[in-house]
Amino acid sequence: PSGHVADTRGRPLRDLRISVTDRCNFRCSYCMPKEVFDKDYPYLPHSELLTFEEITRVARLFLAHGVRKIRLTGGEPLLRKNIERLIEQLAALRTVDGTPPELTLTTNGSLLARKARALRDAGLQRVTVSLDGLDDAVFQRMNDVGFPVAEVLRGIEAAQAAGLAPIKVNMVVKRGTNDDQIVPMARHFRGSGVTLRLIEYMDVGSSNGWCMDEVLPSAEVLARLQVAFALVPLEASAPGETAERWGYAGSDGRHDPALGEIGLISSVTRAFCRDCNRARLSTEGRLYLCLFAERGYDLRALLRGGASDADIAASIAAIWQGRADRYSEIRGQLPPETRQRARRIEMSYIGG
Ligand code: GTP
Ligand code: 5AD
Ligand code: SF4
Ligand code: SF4
Repeated sequence: PSGHVADTRGRPLRDLRISVTDRCNFRCSYCMPKEVFDKDYPYLPHSELLTFEEITRVARLFLAHGVRKIRLTGGEPLLRKNIERLIEQLAALRTVDGTPPELTLTTNGSLLARKARALRDAGLQRVTVSLDGLDDAVFQRMNDVGFPVAEVLRGIEAAQAAGLAPIKVNMVVKRGTNDDQIVPMARHFRGSGVTLRLIEYMDVGSSNGWCMDEVLPSAEVLARLQVAFALVPLEASAPGETAERWGYAGSDGRHDPALGEIGLISSVTRAFCRDCNRARLSTEGRLYLCLFAERGYDLRALLRGGASDADIAASIAAIWQGRADRYSEIRGQLPPETRQRARRIEMSYIGG
């Protein structure tokens, strides 16, 4: 079976996020806090990871169900050995319309200066780089491994030079930790061709000790930006988009494309579940339908158990058709105990 599938809330399947490793060379406090992700942490052994051939086979079946965009994530995806080979295989696939899928990757940027060119040559179209501040003291407190800002900026420049455009930069905002970096970050990227996106700190996983006090609502982020810049709201560029877009205005008060835009990702204060069209494939081949899911579906067992393409495609369709997730919409109604006791997957395992 192939063609488009919709879930119980009428949402189509459009985006596939593929995590290629559960490891990372950073220890961001909101994602892989050092106390939990120490040298004894049980990362997946190599035999458990999907091979590139397995990933490509699954991706092909997802594309047949209407997926248009494939995003590689981690952990840190550039730590996966020979990732360029996987990108080549994925770039050769086609959507139901016969076009190449949109192929992108979310990275912490640490290896990008070295790898941008090879990624582009392999067929990667764009990258999104995570960067939580411009001040080294602040950024190093966030990444917790002493990684310097300048090296990430070099990675972003290399990506631009290689044509991996348009580039987005993701900044997770934690009140009291890096919120003083919002305006400097915006100023730095304004007019550079890079779109900065400010993300509300989310309660993903079970190890970051999330509490609402550390969330700076996007409305406040916007208010701070508006003190420094003239901004105008922009239309969503695609249905189910995570970010709300704001354009920098020129002297005539209208959006000046040369100055670019910023995005606000407000999973906590303004849920975007209604159009959520994303599926997530974990490093070991489990399919998760929500970032906050507590269980996944074991596709690897099918892949390694001799199932045919038609069997696997039918399973994927049935799983998506049964989907009812809308965690961010109901988060506020859940009793705190239920929220805290939930055994959710870690961000580093599923890649956001
Ligand atoms: P583009 O707009 O194409 O660049 O992709 P994206 O925004 O889907 O991907 P990205 O990996 O840059 O994610 C941005 C932020 O949004 C991250 O913090 C993600 O964890 C978060 N995010 C992405 N998808 C979802 C989602 O379905 N639900 C929630 N709650 N957050 C999401
Ligand atoms: N809340 C919000 N964003 C997060 N990310 C990782 N953990 C969290 C969290 N708890 C971001 C990363 C990356 C993207 C995929 O998700 O910084 O940019
Ligand atoms: Fe690594 Fe990204 Fe998680 Fe930071 S947010 S620890 S860079 S996977
Ligand atoms: Fe989609 Fe779940 Fe995020 Fe809602 S909380 S937007 S359903 S991934």
